[in-house]
Amino acid sequence: MASTPEQREVLPGSPSPPTRPPGLWRRWGRAFRDQTVFLPALWRSPQTVGAVCPSSRALARAMLTGHNLRQAGLVVELGPGTGAFTRVILEALGPTTRFFALEVDAGAVRHLHRVLPHVEVFHDSAERLDEYVVRSGRPQVDAIVSGLPWAVLPEDLQRRIMTQVAGCLRPGGGFSTFAYQHARHSTAGRRYWRLLSTLFAQVTVSPTVWWNLPPAVVYHGVK
Ligand SMILES: C[S@@+](CC[C@H](N)C(=O)[O-])C[C@H]1O[C@@H](n2cnc3c(N)ncnc32)[C@H](O)[C@@H]1O
Repeated sequence: MASTPEQREVLPGSPSPPTRPPGLWRRWGRAFRDQTVFLPALWRSPQTVGAVCPSSRALARAMLTGHNLRQAGLVVELGPGTGAFTRVILEALGPTTRFFALEVDAGAVRHLHRVLPHVEVFHDSAERLDEYVVRSGRPQVDAIVSGLPWAVLPEDLQRRIMTQVAGCLRPGGGFSTFAYQHARHSTAGRRYWRLLSTLFAQVTVSPTVWWNLPPAVVYHGVK
């Protein structure tokens, strides 16, 4: 179960407000540590990572707009990487919400087991989402948050994963994913958008999240 949010940094005995926002050093330390996991993964398999660095907290927050994770029974993340979205998801879950993530990169899975030991992260492909939903004991998924790099995934793999997503979500359940601003009108970007529009009754596009490298938009589909 992953309902406990990460511990927040406290500055014991601090007589006056610190000159820097609390947690800044900790966040930089974490960003550095995440990058030491992200870059080797990118080197090993650029076509499954499809990004130059982990997503920002601003993009993570935008990914959760439109979901009510506190009331959800089951929430799933696809492609958590070093946990940029995972940490924000954990903060939003309700006390009885079940959460798990599927990730294909072994290094990223080891990293997440180390830094977020209470979170269920399975070393497997999002193509097998349905098997893990059955294992969870919950009938359907309320919300799916995806960090998968659609623009670099082959079309048949995109289709297999998206069929799983649409099949596992409950009616009314939400799916969010992102597209880099510069790539969303490419051939692969447009193809993914068409696929999304055929699978969901309603798909919205967020304003551009500029505080991300590179800037991105969030697609939110409701089944
Ligand atoms: C662009 S990175 C995003 C990582 C993180 N969500 C973020 O936004 O910083 C894409 C992640 O998806 C993972 N991935 C790619 N194909 C996958 C698949 N079929 N199933 C599960 N994870 C996959 C990669 O290993 C990588 O960690």
